Amino acid sequence: MTALSVSTSSAASLRADALVVGVAKGPKGIVLAPGAEAVNEAFEGKLAEILGTLGATGAEGETVKVASPVGLKAALVLAVGLGEAAEDGYGLEALRRAAGVAARALAGVKKAALALPAESAEEVEAVALGSLLGSYAFGTYKGNGNGKEPVGELVLLTVRKGSKDAKAAVERATAIGEEMNRARDLVNTAPNDLNPKSFAAIAQAAGKEHGLKVEVLDEKALTKGGFGGLLGVGNGSTNPPRLVKVAYTHPKAKATLAFIGKGITYDSGGISLKPAGHNETMKCDMAGAAAVFAAVVAAKRLGLTVNVTAWLALAENMPSGSATRPGDVLRMYGGKTVEVLNTDAEGRLVLADAIVKAGEENPDVIVDVATLTGAMVLALGTRTFGVMANNDELRDNLHALAGEVGEQSWPMPLPAELKKGMTDSTIADLANMGERMGGGLVAGLFLQEFVAEGIDWAHLDIAGPAFHESAPFGYTPKGGTASAVRTLVRFAEQTAANGKA
Ligand code: BES
Ligand code: MN
Ligand code: ZN
Repeated sequence: MTALSVSTSSAASLRADALVVGVAKGPKGIVLAPGAEAVNEAFEGKLAEILGTLGATGAEGETVKVASPVGLKAALVLAVGLGEAAEDGYGLEALRRAAGVAARALAGVKKAALALPAESAEEVEAVALGSLLGSYAFGTYKGNGNGKEPVGELVLLTVRKGSKDAKAAVERATAIGEEMNRARDLVNTAPNDLNPKSFAAIAQAAGKEHGLKVEVLDEKALTKGGFGGLLGVGNGSTNPPRLVKVAYTHPKAKATLAFIGKGITYDSGGISLKPAGHNETMKCDMAGAAAVFAAVVAAKRLGLTVNVTAWLALAENMPSGSATRPGDVLRMYGGKTVEVLNTDAEGRLVLADAIVKAGEENPDVIVDVATLTGAMVLALGTRTFGVMANNDELRDNLHALAGEVGEQSWPMPLPAELKKGMTDSTIADLANMGERMGGGLVAGLFLQEFVAEGIDWAHLDIAGPAFHESAPFGYTPKGGTASAVRTLVRFAEQTAANGKA
């Protein structure tokens, strides 16, 4: 993993292989961003002009390399585009993305210094986080020499001389960035290696490392407890399901949050099998579980004054002679019955069990995170997650928090009339399918049926942004993205600061 440190030395005197500066689109052409002053001096004030000659425009995502003049200790200067020039400071997401682009462009380089805008503690944190996320690479299965190594060492230069809050900002970014990269690793791991049992073991090991309480319900305990949703989804697979509880408690906490993650380690669709073209990326169907796990570990690492319990609802959805059939009725945890009309609508079944179980502990808020529906991808595209809730204020708050941390989300309704198809089952309390139109909302309405009276609940459908299939951008690589982690962590921080959810 890339090592990140912070320094107040001048860009001119720091020994490194490359120096990163920011450039932007000004009204009269390319301009240098704050942080680039010392580097520009070494170029006798002509850096913007030289970069312009090389074709730089300052556009977001752009990188241009130029050899250093004598006077700089680094041999190479990498200019990264920030988009439109800003008089009153660059947006934090622009900084995260530019730092991420730079980190990706620096693959193969041993040591680089970042001379990007980093005056306020927020800016320092943004540059730190963007560069840590951008330097992510998933190397588990690649042989040596197959692709460049991620940049070895990054030194973040800041003008905040001797200030403690710059260091604290880097520590925060490191905790969040490392946990996000852990979530990405989990999502990217092939489904023949990551199954409910191995995922539970990873959670146990990481829990031990960070001093979190981890409890695992195996198939025996799930049978004894009557977890019909998890068992019904998992029974077609040779890899049995697990329900994992990871608890972080703070002695002074005034509120408790329950985060529930959909953890389908592979979604074949089951007997309602997905056709080719729809199952190649379905290892990503545990991204919700990875996100809530990363969030609880991050909450612990940040020492937040709030209790956070993560629930990982883990199962593998496979077809076989022992698999649940379309037409089967499951008795869910808590006693409700569900007629399974489509075994590919499995996420809501494992989540329902976990929502009832989590509700028994009376948390102040439940937030579930799930790659739940293709319908949400059709509605919002591949970069935006949907936010639904049984409380409009909670929904709007989560949407706003997501925006603050640079995650794209959108509030979605839960229109009661869409429940009709689901409650029409002639033989069970509910069917796991209903109206075809508004399928993402129907799934949300199904989950809502399992939320205990009086508990605030929100549902994040991350089916779009959880797994990135097109070209990398900003700090987002191909594959797992760690979608929703930052929103959850910010929500935990806000709850800690307010002493209530
Ligand atoms: N895991 C899928 C949803 C999904 C689709 C995630 C695309 C990521 C990308 C989910 O289990 C599923 O199959 N949902 C069905 C529900 C339908 C059968 C009611 C869907 O969306 O088609
Ligand atoms: Mn499915
Ligand atoms: Zn699924």
